Amino acid sequence: MLAGFVTFEGIDGAGKTTVSRLVAEFLRAKGHAVFLTSEPTKTWLGDAVRHAYDDDVGAVAESFLFLADRAAHVEEIRSHLENGELVLCDRYADSTYAYQGARLKGIVKDPIRFLQQASKGWTLEPDLTVLLRVTPNLGLKRIQGRPTRIRFEELPFLKEVAANYDGLSRSRRFVVLDGARTAEVVAREATMAIENRLTPRRRRGAGSPP
Ligand code: TYD
Repeated sequence: MLAGFVTFEGIDGAGKTTVSRLVAEFLRAKGHAVFLTSEPTKTWLGDAVRHAYDDDVGAVAESFLFLADRAAHVEEIRSHLENGELVLCDRYADSTYAYQGARLKGIVKDPIRFLQQASKGWTLEPDLTVLLRVTPNLGLKRIQGRPTRIRFEELPFLKEVAANYDGLSRSRRFVVLDGARTAEVVAREATMAIENRLTPRRRRGAGSPP
């Protein structure tokens, strides 16, 4: 049984939601206990976040709302990890670094570092982050047909977000996959990456750490 914390990241239209659902399906079929979750969350804090970007409360207020939503979510994620489950999360802290990192430009110095500092100590570091990489043009094309378009989905902004993801993905925690292919193919590769990079759950009991 695999256990650990895996996040899926990418710009709008990268396919995170479809791919993370497929990965959860594949891993469950192999007998793993999977908890699939997402951000913004489905709680009132997540609603507050959605409200904030629909109404454009400004980059600073919006940033702290994303962090507040995450703070509560971390507790839920932690409890599933303590149960020995494999937690998959569709968007997590890197979304804030990539998106609010772009939104806070010119407002605070070094926005990504500012957000990382603000997250220190209380966020859980993912064991693995799967970045689905697509060009901003393709991302935008894919979401064109969606009923509700949100303000973050404009080309110049998405280009900045994509550049932030590319910078973040230099960390060893990341695996970068070409998201331009079919969701099925991408999901199979993501599943393999998870199987290769995550260690099997330690057996509870004598001799093993808690
Ligand atoms: P998205 O994953 O598209 O949610 P849904 O499919 O339910 O609408 O996320 C909504 C938007 O929120 C998306 O444009 C990215 C943005 N976002 C941030 O700007 N910062 C964050 O920390 C998160 C989690 C999302």
